Amino acid sequence: VERLIIDTDTAGDDTQAILMAALADAIDVEALTIVAGNVEFEYEVENAKYTLDLAGVADAVPVYEGARRPLLKDFEHVDHVHGDGGLGGDLYPDTGIPSADGHAVDAIVETVRASPGEVSLACIGPLTNVAMAIRREPDLNELLDEVWVMGGAVNTLGNDTPAAEFNFWVDPDAAKIVVNELDVTLVDWGLTVRHGTIDGDELDRFADADTPYAEFFTAITSHAREFSKERFGVDAATQPDTLAMACLVNPDLVTEAGTYFVDVDEREGMTRGYSLVDELGITDGEPRTRVVESVDGDVFDQMVADMLLAGDP
Ligand code: BDR
Ligand code: CA
Repeated sequence: VERLIIDTDTAGDDTQAILMAALADAIDVEALTIVAGNVEFEYEVENAKYTLDLAGVADAVPVYEGARRPLLKDFEHVDHVHGDGGLGGDLYPDTGIPSADGHAVDAIVETVRASPGEVSLACIGPLTNVAMAIRREPDLNELLDEVWVMGGAVNTLGNDTPAAEFNFWVDPDAAKIVVNELDVTLVDWGLTVRHGTIDGDELDRFADADTPYAEFFTAITSHAREFSKERFGVDAATQPDTLAMACLVNPDLVTEAGTYFVDVDEREGMTRGYSLVDELGITDGEPRTRVVESVDGDVFDQMVADMLLAGDP
């Protein structure tokens, strides 16, 4: 991946994924597109701009505002996970940076049309914008380079409901369109639980560090750390979006992956947003989704530490 659009519901771990991509020398972040998800839309937009500013790239990376609601369903924000406003509860940025002109969906479509096969997508929020882009440009799959999605819970419990991971739960209709119609690499919630979690000792180390990125990380994880203790009984902070971006930035991180038929239950009810993954090849569904099954967790931890502690005296 060289040229990247990040589609994000910026709060919590989204910020760390954005930072990681913005700081990666080999990657040119062309735009952020904002989608309804974690917290109120206006907070997401401002959180995204603040993160770009912190990375020193706010002038170079336009922020496009996208879908403020899922395609069809009602949904709920998760301030109880990321803290009020999405950055831990104490940080409410007001950057004064204007949003780019035009809708996020148009920005995605126009950027890939201008450079067929060269631009990749990192999808770290609900998939509303991306599904709309597919409907605007039926050849989107052919026009894109790689598509990375953080979403789903592959044969494991969800985090938002027992059946579903948050991004797929919020807009299951969009998630279904995206996995049915694009060649996606999926980083799911289960992989996060196994390898994408920063433990309490490491969180303390970052809290003691004196760098702007470590301070930011501590602010955005403070609330999530408490939430993790309550819901999962572990002193840790989960970093699903950061993990997905780390795999995109450093594909050697991925130690195991399989390509399967994947589908999403878009029906309202107990299994809304459930990600069906046909690991045994039981159905006739076409195997087209590359599911990341294992990563080198130590390398991931190291990537996060390198990013956050850069410049620590
Ligand atoms: C996903 O939901 C959001 O809260 C996170 O940012 C991540 O994209 C994990 O289920
Ligand atoms: Ca997200």
